[in-house]
Amino acid sequence: MFKNKKVLIVVSGSVSAYKSASLVRLLIKQGASTRVVMTKSAEEFIPSKTLSILSRYEVLTDLFSSYDREVVHIEWANWADYIFVVPATANIIGKIANGIADDAATATIMASKADKIIAPAMNDAMLNNAAVKRNLDIIKNDGWLIIDPEYGFLAEGYEANGRLQEPEKIIAEASIRLQAKLGKLKGKHIVITAGGTVEALDPVRYLTNRSSGKMGYALARAAVEAGCHVTLITTVDKEDIYGVTKIFVKSTQEMLDQSMIAFKHADIFIAAAAVSDFRPMTYVEHKIKKQDNYPLQLTLIQNPDILKTIGSIKNKNQIVVGFAAETQNIVSYGQNKLNQKNADMIIANDVSNSEIGFSSDDNSVTIISQKYSPKVVTKQSKIKIARIIIDSISEIVNTN
Ligand code: PMT
Repeated sequence: MFKNKKVLIVVSGSVSAYKSASLVRLLIKQGASTRVVMTKSAEEFIPSKTLSILSRYEVLTDLFSSYDREVVHIEWANWADYIFVVPATANIIGKIANGIADDAATATIMASKADKIIAPAMNDAMLNNAAVKRNLDIIKNDGWLIIDPEYGFLAEGYEANGRLQEPEKIIAEASIRLQAKLGKLKGKHIVITAGGTVEALDPVRYLTNRSSGKMGYALARAAVEAGCHVTLITTVDKEDIYGVTKIFVKSTQEMLDQSMIAFKHADIFIAAAAVSDFRPMTYVEHKIKKQDNYPLQLTLIQNPDILKTIGSIKNKNQIVVGFAAETQNIVSYGQNKLNQKNADMIIANDVSNSEIGFSSDDNSVTIISQKYSPKVVTKQSKIKIARIIIDSISEIVNTN
């Protein structure tokens, strides 16, 4: 995201100012050019020399310094593609919100048209103060991206909300949110199912499958990058992704119930979960006992088909996408599912190949749709596949 970009980092006076050094290093590692502006109080916490060496540039601390006869803060404001205010104190937040530009940091910020990201860090009581909350709201409405502080051990010696996010997280969240601002599916609500459903047999045993949820989570991330709000209905808990609301389920029936609720307000539905077609006819209240030399007979009944149910109730503005887990005749079986389930698109994948499909980090798919001829996507990471799938969905959405 920040490769070949010019990033200005504004550091204000907080104990967490030391983290700005890692932020500069990480941005340079990504290929960004960096410059740093510090407030007077930031200099109490981290020497400007450290940030100057890391950013490979003189650090700006004084509004009235000048070089090359330029007005420095204006030159720096115009130079920046992005401005990060990390860490941001209640004081600098108040100044930004109220248009006060009385030092190099705030004057540079005010003069710049760059995209702006701010990561507050302060005592929990200060964070909950009505004026700080009001100022953060103003900044948000002015178009700033706010990276909320996290819960953790504060300098005061107790755990509370207000700790600066780790620099890796600040960059990751900023990247995803900046991309989303330009995304092809900006503002759309997408519901995605992920993981393998779990059908209980007795209190300790269940039927399930080898789905890891990786494909579903990759789709959730790609959808956020494209600007969507995501509801992820999942049987597995993996990473948290900004912009994704996770709903945990176990059985097919639970996944269906949650899908029906979420789909009411959705623009797009993607069924990436591996759903059990059958479940035990009866749930046995206590652990089933072994009986010598007697085979145990299980009677399975059919589960509801989530994709088919959603396909049957979708309106003309809603897009429904399913997967097809096949071991042969991938395209023709995928095409059958497209029609049988009234889907707009089917992502067919070969689950007989252990290098792709279930649990692996990679996949290879054929995208089959009502509108376009089948498109083969060769083996690559699930996140890359997910971005291609989301791109194909956006073509349908934007020509609908
Ligand atoms: O989770 P990973 O380890 O990353 O693996 C990814 C995956 C292989 C699980 C994924 O890429 C995939 O293929 N998911 C669909 C698996 C599946 O259930 O396929 P199917 O051909 O049996 O079902 C067709 C479609 O109907 C699927 O969208 C499925 O979610 C849906 N379905 C199936 C049965 C059912 N009762 N209800 C459904 O909604």
